[in-house]
Amino acid sequence: MLKLFLPTVDSTNRYLLEHAAFLPHFCVLRAGCQSAGRGRFARNWVSPVGGLWFSLLLKHFPLPRNVIPSLLALAGLDVLEKLCGKGFWLKWPNDIVFSTGTPSADGKVAGILGQFCGQGEKGVLVVGMGMNINNAVPGKLDFPAVSLRDVCHQHREVVPVYFALLEAFQENWNRFEPGAWKRRVRQKSYFHAGERVSLHCALSEKRWEGTLVDTPVEALELVLDSGESKSFQAGDVRKVRVERGSSR
Ligand code: BTN
Repeated sequence: MLKLFLPTVDSTNRYLLEHAAFLPHFCVLRAGCQSAGRGRFARNWVSPVGGLWFSLLLKHFPLPRNVIPSLLALAGLDVLEKLCGKGFWLKWPNDIVFSTGTPSADGKVAGILGQFCGQGEKGVLVVGMGMNINNAVPGKLDFPAVSLRDVCHQHREVVPVYFALLEAFQENWNRFEPGAWKRRVRQKSYFHAGERVSLHCALSEKRWEGTLVDTPVEALELVLDSGESKSFQAGDVRKVRVERGSSR
């Protein structure tokens, strides 16, 4: 695994996509900070010094491409659990959240952006992860952000977390087996069947509310209030508090 470091760059995802032709499979780039970090749905991702911002370049796909971002998220969960204990969950599709059971206090620790460029076998996938470690997090987000320092009340060195994460990801990659992967995703899911959630699709600017049919793995299925079932491949989901005495 070729490991590159830049003290500052606009976006590690963008850099790897631009230089993909000259870089090897499994090359990884970490930045001290990003001046134009990107989030899903073309949002900004605030990336000051103190956090972990990196991307992986993948050129060969012996396993399904769509599972790769979640292998990175699961690697992140394993590392965080070893470091700080329980309370970290996989929020569909690939976020890591810290939650101790009070949805209003839940916060996002890490997010993942997968970008595929090219076609078929010749295409390359860049998977970037942003993890709030010691950095200040932006306020006023749709889903609140938290840092590891906020939840563990301790300063953590960024580099050991990064190396542990790369090792865990490599192991998930080498040992990938669809059944075991699905079980792990279900086991670590922040969402469960029967919960009421709202899903916002940033591209269409539409919002849906309904009840989860099952724990989301690849897709998220909702039964809307109209009784209609709808399946989603992407979106921002959050739990909706059901008022006491409500018939829903
Ligand atoms: C999200 O939750 O919206 C995904 C955030 C992904 C952020 C990371 S930071 C490293 C890499 N470079 C980027 O520009 N974005 C990803």
